[in-house]
Amino acid sequence: MIIDIGGGTAEIAVISLGGITTFKSVKVAGDRFNSDIQEYMRKKHNIAIGESTAEQIKINVGSAVEDLENPPADYEFYGRNLLTGVPTAVKVNYREVAQAIDRSIAQIETAVINALENTPPELSADIYKTGIYLAGGGSLLRGLDKRLSKKTTLEVRVAEDPLKAVARGTAISLKNFDKFPFLMK
Ligand SMILES: Nc1ncnc2c1ncn2[C@@H]1O[C@H](COP(=O)(O)OP(=O)(O)OP(=O)(O)O)[C@@H](O)[C@H]1O
Ligand SMILES: [Mg+2]
Repeated sequence: MIIDIGGGTAEIAVISLGGITTFKSVKVAGDRFNSDIQEYMRKKHNIAIGESTAEQIKINVGSAVEDLENPPADYEFYGRNLLTGVPTAVKVNYREVAQAIDRSIAQIETAVINALENTPPELSADIYKTGIYLAGGGSLLRGLDKRLSKKTTLEVRVAEDPLKAVARGTAISLKNFDKFPFLMK
């Protein structure tokens, strides 16, 4: 099972014998995490921030859990105070980001459980042994692998260089065209 969490979508696929057996896609991924963070700052701190500031917060102190073993240092960002209209500096802790994106992560968890439920039993047995692989930029979110592992009770690993994993995998499959019959369909 591979979970690719990009900007627009999280895609969950079970791949077997060179083809996709189970597929599930949800429109909850990196862009949604950014808008969650914007909404959180507006509601909790009365501060308006742009999307790129939200993305910087996510990259610097983003987390899927509130109990990280190696927490990042608090991150200072700038925004506009909605009450005074004046530019303001605010420090944010990773726990706040975890709270801000919690509902969206839960939606991805539900989709993963759903995909597991729709996987044929023989493949389920294989997934039990091989675990789940994460790819895409969203998989760089701190603690996401541990959170998904706890939810599914399976081993979850993040692919090497997950932002480039899809492009690298595509190149490898094109070089080995004959081994991937589904590419010819
Ligand atoms: N360190 C990081 N922590 C959390 N999110 C990150 C990190 N680095 C990049 N991202 C997020 O990863 C997303 C981009 O990932 P990726 O390049 O895999 O998506 P994409 O393939 O362009 O999108 P899609 O698959 O939805 O079409 C962006 O939302 C970006 O903010
Ligand atoms: Mg992608």
